[in-house]
Amino acid sequence: MNAIEASNLVKIYQTKNRGQLRAVDGISFFVRRGEIFGLLGPNGAGKSTTIKILTTLLQPTSGVASIFGYDVVRQPLDVRRHICVVVQENAIELYLSVRNNFRTFGRFHGLSAKEIERRIGAVSELFGLREHLQEKGSDLSGGLKRRVQVAKMFLVDKPIVFLDEATTGMDTFNKRTTIRAIKEESRKGRTIVLTTHILEEAEELCTSLAIVNHGKIIASGRMDQVKSLGLRLLYVTLTFEQVPEGFLTSLQAYDPVKIDSINSTVEVTVRSDTAALEIVNLARKTGGLLHFEISTASLEDVFVELIDRKAGVV
Ligand SMILES: Nc1ncnc2c1ncn2[C@@H]1O[C@H](COP(=O)(O)OP(=O)(O)OP(=O)(O)O)[C@@H](O)[C@H]1O
Ligand SMILES: [Mg+2]
Repeated sequence: MNAIEASNLVKIYQTKNRGQLRAVDGISFFVRRGEIFGLLGPNGAGKSTTIKILTTLLQPTSGVASIFGYDVVRQPLDVRRHICVVVQENAIELYLSVRNNFRTFGRFHGLSAKEIERRIGAVSELFGLREHLQEKGSDLSGGLKRRVQVAKMFLVDKPIVFLDEATTGMDTFNKRTTIRAIKEESRKGRTIVLTTHILEEAEELCTSLAIVNHGKIIASGRMDQVKSLGLRLLYVTLTFEQVPEGFLTSLQAYDPVKIDSINSTVEVTVRSDTAALEIVNLARKTGGLLHFEISTASLEDVFVELIDRKAGVV
C-alpha cells in the first residue's frame, strides 16, 4: 500500500475579492513509503492547501485522499495517528525553552519521561541544537525557531512527516544541517512530504516530486524523470577576454531560452545540442574565447520551462 494517495482533489475557497477560487484544481498523485516527496511550485500554487487537506486540517471540496489507506475526511483520527505536520504558519512555544518545547511535545504524544530525554538527546544531536536547549523560544532567531519546529517532528515515531516550507528563512548553514537531518530520518524509513519553491532544495532532497501551478500538477514522477522533461535545455557558458561586439545580438539566431551576460562571461540556454555546438563554434571564430562549457539543465530550468509552456509563453 502506498503511504499517500490523492485522487482528483479540488479545493474551492469563497473569497471576497476574487469570488470562487480553485486553489487546488484536480490534483492526483501518490507517495510510496520511505520516499521524500516534494510539492514544488510558485507562491499561491496550492501547495499548503494540498498539505492541509492531506493532514485533515481542511476538507476538500471534492476528490479523495488517504494516508495508509485511511480516508482523510472519513477517518481523520486514524490519519492523525500516522502523521506529524509542520504547517507554514505554526511556530514553537515562545515562552518555553527549546528543551521544554521538546518535552511538551513528547508528553503530548504519550512518551515516558525517560524516553523523552533519550530522544531529546538524539534529535538535538542530529539537528545541531545541543547548545540551544536551554534557550527560550522567544530568544531564538527566526531560522533557528524553524529548525526547532522541524526537529520536534522527529521526536516521535510517526511514519509520515509533512513539512510545509520547513526551511524558509534559514541561512545556508542552518539549511544544510536541517537537510542533512531530514535525509537521515528518511533513511530510517520515514516518509517525508515537503513543499518548497526553492528548486535546488527539492533537487537535493526529493526522490520524487510534483510540480504544481495554479492548483494543477504540471509534471510529476521520480526526480530523474521530471528532470529529463527538460533535458532539451542546455547551458552554454562562454568566457571571453572581452565579449566581442555584436556577439549577444548574433545569438538570437539560435532561438535562445535565456541569455545572461556578466562581465566577460556569457551564459546562453538553448534547446538543442546543435544550437549549443554552433554557438561554441561561433564564439571560437569570433575570437577571444578563453573557456567554454556545455551542461544540461537544472531543475530550475525545467520548472521555468514547464510553467511558461503551460502559460502559453513558449
Ligand atoms: N483560507 C483561504 N481563503 C481564501 N483563499 C485562500 C485561503 N488560503 C489560501 N488561499 C488562496 O489559495 C491559493 C493557494 O494558496 P496556498 O496557500 O495553498 O498556496 P502555496 O502554494 O502554499 O503558496 P506559498 O508558496 O505562497 O506558500 C492562493 O491564491 C491563496 O491566496
Ligand atoms: Mg504555502
